[in-house]
Amino acid sequence: MSAVKIKDNIYWVGAVDRDVRNFHGYLTPVGSTYNAYLVLDEKITLIDTVKASFTDEMLDNIREIVDPAKIDYHISNHTEPDHSGALPALAALCPNMKVICSPNGQKGLSAYYPDVRMDFQPVKTGDTLNTGKFTFEFVLMPLVHWPDSMSTYLRGEELLFSNDALGQHIAGPERFDDELGYDRLMERAGDYYANIVLPFGAQVKKLLADIGGFSISVICPSHGVMLRKYIGEMVGAYARWAASETDPARAVIVYDTMWGSTRMLADGLEADLRAGGYTVETLCLRDTHVSTCMAALLDAHYIAVGCPTLNRQVMPTMAAFLSYVRGLSPKNRRGRAFGSYGWSGESVGIIEETLKALGWEIDPPVKSVWRP
Ligand code: FEO
Repeated sequence: MSAVKIKDNIYWVGAVDRDVRNFHGYLTPVGSTYNAYLVLDEKITLIDTVKASFTDEMLDNIREIVDPAKIDYHISNHTEPDHSGALPALAALCPNMKVICSPNGQKGLSAYYPDVRMDFQPVKTGDTLNTGKFTFEFVLMPLVHWPDSMSTYLRGEELLFSNDALGQHIAGPERFDDELGYDRLMERAGDYYANIVLPFGAQVKKLLADIGGFSISVICPSHGVMLRKYIGEMVGAYARWAASETDPARAVIVYDTMWGSTRMLADGLEADLRAGGYTVETLCLRDTHVSTCMAALLDAHYIAVGCPTLNRQVMPTMAAFLSYVRGLSPKNRRGRAFGSYGWSGESVGIIEETLKALGWEIDPPVKSVWRP
């Protein structure tokens, strides 16, 4: 993938990773991109880098426009290695380059790359960097989604480099939202939010307030396509997701089964919910990954979770789901635990304990001995 011009003197120079299928446990069935951005001015700036294995691809894209050794500033919006992996190579090429990042970014980059000499210039919200005719303004966004995360606004050109916020995991030839299409864009953005950003609703609300005063013509996230057509729609979706707004008529059933009894309970619950006016999506953990389940329940108000008892526990698939959902912590839901058992019957209680810990409104559990 070659460099892509965004505006005069501003380019996407990142990498497209068609093969990545697992992002620290989160499945990425259609790959991802690692977006880096080059801004030419009296001083030359590179915003974020790429995963280490894509370093050459990024440097080749930069070389289409300018010698990478001429880069004066590197703005590191986020330490995570999918965005900082090429930094050691870049620092070797540009020994006098200044690294602009948050104070937590300086700590993180120093820990990840202890052997790389970097001339740090830590910034806080409201600080600016002038590179000639351009002025960058920084907005720290701690815990969206790491403590070091920040975004960068390019005044005048009205570009927001939002890093992991407002991104999507998708690999393809499209670089802009209007090339991808609205439905596909929001499907991938929802999947991404549910699996990465969901625990940080309060921090997302603060970020949206902090950038609310900016006039924005293009949002340039660190994954997926850039937004120039559906900016309002994406910001609106983030506001709804951060507020834990759900569709009151949408239900998701997540279950596993041993000999079909818990499946029968799931079928019965699905029929009851449909009769009650819900649209229902029923997902079996045997063939549905936990990250797919999370995407499904992002907009669902009612979530039923079922599993038989196995060795006085839940099945391993359900243990993984409960751990994952508890960490991602969706709020403002109504739920119900269900499951079959033969003699001891602990599974429903284990599930209900997690649903209660999430603060959900809980309906009475459904338990069945042997066969419903
Ligand atoms: Fe895309 Fe938090 O790294």
